[in-house]
Amino acid sequence: DLHGVRDARGRPLRDLRLSLIDACNFRCPYCMPADQVADDHGLSSAQRLTFDEIETLVRGFVRLGVNKLRLTGGEPLLRRRLPELISRLVRIPGLDDIALTTNGSLLAGQAQALRDAGLQRITVSLDALDPALFHKLSGGRGQLDTVLEGLAAARAAGFDPIKLNCVVQRGVNDDQIVPLVEFARAQGFVARFIEYMDVGTCNGWRRDRVVPSSEVHARIHARWPLRPLDAQYRGEVADRHAFVDGKGEVGFVSSVSAPFCGDCHRARVSADGLLFTCLFAARGHDLRPWLAGGDAALADHAATLWSQRADRYSELRGSAQASRRHVEMYLIGG
Ligand code: GTP
Ligand code: 5AD
Ligand code: SF4
Ligand code: SF4
Repeated sequence: DLHGVRDARGRPLRDLRLSLIDACNFRCPYCMPADQVADDHGLSSAQRLTFDEIETLVRGFVRLGVNKLRLTGGEPLLRRRLPELISRLVRIPGLDDIALTTNGSLLAGQAQALRDAGLQRITVSLDALDPALFHKLSGGRGQLDTVLEGLAAARAAGFDPIKLNCVVQRGVNDDQIVPLVEFARAQGFVARFIEYMDVGTCNGWRRDRVVPSSEVHARIHARWPLRPLDAQYRGEVADRHAFVDGKGEVGFVSSVSAPFCGDCHRARVSADGLLFTCLFAARGHDLRPWLAGGDAALADHAATLWSQRADRYSELRGSAQASRRHVEMYLIGG
């Protein structure tokens, strides 16, 4: 029985993050710097997994114990006929939760169709509420207003809660923390603050730009007192805190200051079907040859790969054991 397969550190597989496309209409410097990733970057559509392959893949992972699916990119809303794909995936028995992480720029036109297709949850990246800074942090490609319209459309379509992801960089957007919390509280969104990570190889990461979650927490708590909440499930990435006044909650993702590898139940698959067993893995394992054999064959092979997994990069960060080569963030969607 493959259900409940454990890796070499005893960790089960619960969560699949599937990239649908490696292209993005933004060039956030911490992910896809414009001077290093060409304008027309992206696999050709023939290299991407087809909807049939994706369905087989997800069914295979469900056999191993996955009950949570997150669709990512690049920017997943650039993938054509996304609602059709979602409506196929929501019918897979055993999948309890399908979520999507997006930059929000195309959400206004798609939110209702995504909801109608059965998508359960949406997370929107939002690093700044200052329009000029927002534009700069998108690599000069995005407009704050279109993202705000996307958020409004997502809410109107019935998504609730909607999470906002803010990657905090010292001296870059740490002055946006309080405005973002104020906005989230007023609008009923869940703001989440993410420590800037050394993902990929091209983002020029510097440790002194990381703002530890403890500091972000302190700044918010000083203005709106917080109290810790219990995790909703074992291995939840964000540490949740409620506002004492009852007006919602915030989350902190602290993979630099407080690594959570011990409870990491996540597998990632790129748009061309490579399995990455860690966000910081140097290489992926090509699943495509096994997809032709159907979901049972895929599950068999993926179970073998998972059982050999020993990754814990965030715990090793900075040590001699930590690998220096990492897959690019935009290939696996975070
Ligand atoms: P839910 O808990 O389902 O709402 O989603 P999530 O927080 O896991 O997903 P999201 O895509 O919003 O990710 C939030 C941030 O956490 C992103 O910056 C991810 O790159 C980061 N993240 C997610 N999983 C991991 C992980 O396994 N390791 C590390 N180091 N970072 C992760
Ligand atoms: N550090 C932390 N988070 C990052 N993301 C992209 N690059 C980084 C990085 N270097 C975030 C995006 C998105 C999520 C999936 O990952 O902002 O919200
Ligand atoms: Fe695109 Fe998201 Fe990467 Fe920004 S973080 S470049 S929006 S994939
Ligand atoms: Fe999982 Fe790798 Fe992130 Fe650790 S660094 S939590 S092993 S994805």
